[in-house]
Amino acid sequence: MSDIRGRDFLKLADFETGEIDDILNLAFEMKREQRQWSLKGKTIIMLFFNSSLRTRTSFEIGATQLGAQPVVLNVGQDAWNLEWEEGTVMNANSPEHIKDAAKVLSRYGDALAVRSFPRMQNYAQDRVDPILSSFSKYASAPLINLESAVEHPCQGLADLMTLREVFNHNTKGKKVVLSWAPHVKALPLAVPHSFLLAAAMGGCDITVAHPPQFELEESVRTQAELVANLNGGKVRVTHDQQEAFKGAEVVYAKSWLSLPFYGKPEEEMAYRATLPSWTIDEDKMALTSRARFMHCLPIRRNLVATDGVLDHDDCVIYQQAENRLHAQKALMVKMLGES
Ligand code: CP
Repeated sequence: MSDIRGRDFLKLADFETGEIDDILNLAFEMKREQRQWSLKGKTIIMLFFNSSLRTRTSFEIGATQLGAQPVVLNVGQDAWNLEWEEGTVMNANSPEHIKDAAKVLSRYGDALAVRSFPRMQNYAQDRVDPILSSFSKYASAPLINLESAVEHPCQGLADLMTLREVFNHNTKGKKVVLSWAPHVKALPLAVPHSFLLAAAMGGCDITVAHPPQFELEESVRTQAELVANLNGGKVRVTHDQQEAFKGAEVVYAKSWLSLPFYGKPEEEMAYRATLPSWTIDEDKMALTSRARFMHCLPIRRNLVATDGVLDHDDCVIYQQAENRLHAQKALMVKMLGES
């Protein structure tokens, strides 16, 4: 049994498959309500630099169900705008530095949790997750990533839990497709990165399908290949969506941005307009081996996937969203509970 108390939970990539399995085994126990778990007297402080429906509610309700006190701060509304540049003269719009906020909040809370999306101008700057890294550097309380530029590890936990449910706990070698999908905006890479790593931890036979120019970050793909190989799975990449869908047992849809067009959304949208349709519809799902359909939500209906796909019995998006609650409760207990 691994012990993750006191550690930050910033990336799936930082954790061993066994450590993630331990969290999920507890999540399954919690979902079956076999035991009462308590974090009575603990406080979780969540800072949102960006909007959320599932992450905020599932953490707030999960902490409450465990007897802990959740405190939610929307940065720029409930809390001051926060500066993260080191050594800067703070004569602009941010009255407080993360260095001070993180140290203060660590004296109040048993854990901090932060959502901060990338600024989407310069990937070299965004990929180091400056806000999350600054909290990690200065907070003495453990820190949870609620989605950043590079990963959404809590989503990845729930996604692996859902894969285990779909495949009756035998995910090894199962044919899983991570498919790019259209969107009106260039979206971050965090969810596809975390899903790829989660499916690799499950030892799945993963196909990443995307148009040219939409490669995931090479270091994440390389690590996913390594993790998949260690767990009896593999990762391959194709630009042919329909070929990828043939025989698939799970289709995970997600839109993500193009790294070569990073910071140039208008050029990226012009390029996207030249692509054939990547919307996932009933005809494409009919190519699969009755695949379950997954998506992290929110989803733009009839753009990412059709109503026919989303309202079908094989769509598990609500089960997947519910698993956020169980997986995160298990994470909080593992991070903050008694041994
Ligand atoms: N999937 C997810 O993180 O949803 P929210 O953005 O609503 O939190």
